[in-house]
Amino acid sequence: MARILLHEETFDPSYVPTKLVRRETEVGLLLRRYRESLGKGLPYHQLVTGGIGSGKTLLAKRLGEELNRGGKLNGLAPLPIYINCWRRATDRTVLLELLRGVGVSLPDRGYALSEMLDVLEQGVRRNPRHLFVVLDEVSALVRQGTKLVYLLSRPSEVRLGSVSLFLVSPEDVLPYLDAASRSSFGVTHRLQLARYDQEALQEILAYRAELGLRPGSFDAETLEQIARTAATSGDARFALEILVGAARIAESEGGGAIAPEHVRAARGSLYPTLTESKLEELPPLSLLVLLAVARSLKGPKSTAPTEKVRQLYALLAEEYHEKPVSRVTFWRTVKELEREGFLTAETVRDGESARLALDEIPASFLTTLLEARAGAKGARKR
Ligand SMILES: Nc1ncnc2c1ncn2[C@@H]1O[C@H](COP(=O)(O)OP(=O)(O)OP(=O)(O)O)[C@@H](O)[C@H]1O
Ligand SMILES: [Mg+2]
Repeated sequence: MARILLHEETFDPSYVPTKLVRRETEVGLLLRRYRESLGKGLPYHQLVTGGIGSGKTLLAKRLGEELNRGGKLNGLAPLPIYINCWRRATDRTVLLELLRGVGVSLPDRGYALSEMLDVLEQGVRRNPRHLFVVLDEVSALVRQGTKLVYLLSRPSEVRLGSVSLFLVSPEDVLPYLDAASRSSFGVTHRLQLARYDQEALQEILAYRAELGLRPGSFDAETLEQIARTAATSGDARFALEILVGAARIAESEGGGAIAPEHVRAARGSLYPTLTESKLEELPPLSLLVLLAVARSLKGPKSTAPTEKVRQLYALLAEEYHEKPVSRVTFWRTVKELEREGFLTAETVRDGESARLALDEIPASFLTTLLEARAGAKGARKR
């Protein structure tokens, strides 16, 4: 069997790639701000927000590594500590993790927050470092009315040495913080990551495919197909999941390369909810158009010219005893199906020379469903 996933570990959520595609400006900007501030002996606090899969966690980890690698700042070696506050995190559990991060293990035996902070302070004093503390998914903690953000962002007032906070959340959490903590995150200390567009996603996919897949097992067209699918959400994780899923399917079929059909299958298995119930509500015309697209895509091409699909549709309409509709109605139906998320229509030049693609579900699966439905209606001519 030809292997495609040569370095599967590079797709692991914990893997931190050295390059951050399309985010180098942000990394550079933040690094400069931290270095400047720490160089003066002052901590620097930052809040980063952005949509799902927009690279927030990756940015935080990358920054930690860069600061750590960059050597001492104002006599202190930066130590990145990453803590995910997702779900049941409380100030106490986060602080316990923070203590572990500086090499102090404290039994979770009901110490008061202030006692734990004292222990942290002693630990830092014994081994002076600058703590770069990432609190990822911090909104859960903030909503509980955390005191920790206040205590850690005002280290001089609580005699805590040097701690910089890096808060990560999908949405702005500052309105939920106390006024004093909010002021530590003035306007320049907030960064909203822009959502990845199709082009950015394709570039990310190309880079990650190069790292993890066998050369020659993927091509630009395949990556574009995946990027197009993920562009509506701008979610890089989703795009990478489709890539890995498609690679696995291609591998299991022993093909040696990822084909458009593998991408459609991977996409379908990640989102199997669309499909039958939605399909059942569609009128015969829409079903026939979808079937025509599905049949046109059986080959190695991931998109099909609209005109070719329309001709196939006309043949199918006859086969299923339906009167073929006009070009205009056909096109309107295509656009309706696109709005409902069944297919994508790419306009190449003018409206006429478009290409159609079906990224939502495997074409073969759709064909089976449509034929079963048409068959059940008993309309089919033999
Ligand atoms: N610019 C990029 N270059 C390379 N890989 C990226 C880039 N952005 C994101 N990724 C990859 O995409 C996946 C999702 O990114 P990440 O986990 O950082 O997103 P997130 O914004 O933290 O999402 P969530 O809100 O769900 O936590 C990760 O596997 C990450 O390595
Ligand atoms: Mg994240």
